[in-house]
Amino acid sequence: MQQRAPSAPETWDEFFSDFYLRAYADDERQGEAQSQALAAARLAGCPPGGDVLDVPCGFGRHSVPLARASYRVVGVDRSESLLAEAQRRTGGERWPKLVRADYRELPLPDESFDAALNLFTSLGYLGDEQDARVLGEIRRVLRPGARLVIETMHRDLLVRESREQDWRLLGGGRLLLEQRTFDAGSGVAQTTQTLIENTGERDSRSFSVRVYTATELVAMLRRAGFEEARCHGDLDGAPFATDTRLVIVARRGAA
Ligand SMILES: C[S@@+](CC[C@H](N)C(=O)[O-])C[C@H]1O[C@@H](n2cnc3c(N)ncnc32)[C@H](O)[C@@H]1O
Repeated sequence: MQQRAPSAPETWDEFFSDFYLRAYADDERQGEAQSQALAAARLAGCPPGGDVLDVPCGFGRHSVPLARASYRVVGVDRSESLLAEAQRRTGGERWPKLVRADYRELPLPDESFDAALNLFTSLGYLGDEQDARVLGEIRRVLRPGARLVIETMHRDLLVRESREQDWRLLGGGRLLLEQRTFDAGSGVAQTTQTLIENTGERDSRSFSVRVYTATELVAMLRRAGFEEARCHGDLDGAPFATDTRLVIVARRGAA
C-alpha cells in the first residue's frame, strides 16, 4: 500500500504566498495574535526584553507585537511574500529582525535565544525526518535552559473534530472553502483550499501535512535533545486533552 507523504517544499511555497495572505492576513483571529504571542513568551519563561526566535514567523502577526512589547525578536520564514508583509507591519521599527531562510538551516549563531516560538501548526510540512531536523536546529540556537513553545493541531483533535468540508467567510464578501481527507496509516492530512472572490473567481491550492500526536512530538523533541517537554491545551497553560489544541513547552538542557 502506498503511503501518503507531506507536500514538497515547492507546493508549500505556492501556498504560503499571496494566496495565504488573501486567505489569512485579514482574518478576525489577528486580534488574538498579540495576546497569544505574549502568552507564549510568558509560557516559555522568557525574561523581559529577552531574545525571542519566532520560527516560522509568517507575516509577522506574533513577531511585531512581541517587538512592541520590548522583546528582541528575530522572525525567520521561507516565504518572500509573507516576509514582505511582515516587514510592512514593522512600520520601519528596528525590531523585529526578519530573516529569509529554510528552518532546517537557521543562519543564526548557537545559543543566541532565550525562547523560541513555533505557532499555528508550523511543523509537519516536511515529514518526520526533516521536521526532526528543524527541532534540532531550534535547539541549537537556544541558550542552555531556554524553552521552545510549539502550538499546533494534533492528530487526536483532527480525528475528533475535522469535517470533510468547511466554509469560512472572509472580509469583502469572499469565501474560503476547505475540503479535507485524512490518511490514518501515514498520519497525513490532505486539504484543498478554494478562495472564492466576490466576483465569483476561484483559486485553489492543495497540500498534505503530517499531523503528529502529542506522544510523537514529545518523542521527537527528546530525540532532538530537549530535556523536558510538557503538554498543555492552550498558551495560558490549560490542561491538554484530545479536544484541545496542543501546546508543548520543551526545555533545552544545560549541555
Ligand atoms: C501556518 S504558517 C504560520 C506562521 C506563523 N507562525 C503564524 O502563526 O502566523 C506556517 C509558516 O511556515 C513557513 N514555512 C513553511 N515551510 C518552511 C520552511 N521549510 N522553512 C521556513 N519556513 C517555512 C511558511 O512560509 C509559513 O509562513
